[in-house]
Amino acid sequence: AGRAAGCAVNVRLAANRAGSYHAGRRRGFTSMIGNINHIAIVVPDLDVAAAHWRDVLGAEVSQAQTLPEHGVRIVFVRSANGQVELMEPFGEASPIAGFLKRNPHGGMHHVCYEVANIDQARAKLEAKGVRVLGDGSVKNGAHGNPVLFLHPKDFNGTLIELEQVTEGGAH
Ligand code: CO
Repeated sequence: AGRAAGCAVNVRLAANRAGSYHAGRRRGFTSMIGNINHIAIVVPDLDVAAAHWRDVLGAEVSQAQTLPEHGVRIVFVRSANGQVELMEPFGEASPIAGFLKRNPHGGMHHVCYEVANIDQARAKLEAKGVRVLGDGSVKNGAHGNPVLFLHPKDFNGTLIELEQVTEGGAH
């Protein structure tokens, strides 16, 4: 019995450390938002920024990926409990070109929270008067998961992305 109980405790501790939406549910919270999946920062030059974060912070930085359908080129800066996504505009119609024009040295662009069910999250938020950007439909985001963005004016000037992740499927 001792052994099994020990296992259960370890599993619970691991779940708590992971702090996932699902772990939160098991602990009795009913928050709509789970883990912070990533914090996105727009940079004027991705290669310069990636080298800077790698060399100055000693951070683990991924290979660059170009996402033409999203108009960005990105790297992930990994840390123990989440990731920062550095993004530079790609192509003529990049959705972050205007942001970079207003913030030529770069800046924090959005915070992405994980949710278990994006349609339910949208319905609850819209019922509370929160504006979903674009036509309000759910699209596939940079990681291939369904995402939507909430109006910055509804969240203290901060653009919030919601990303639907399945249990164990984060990152
Ligand atoms: Co994002």
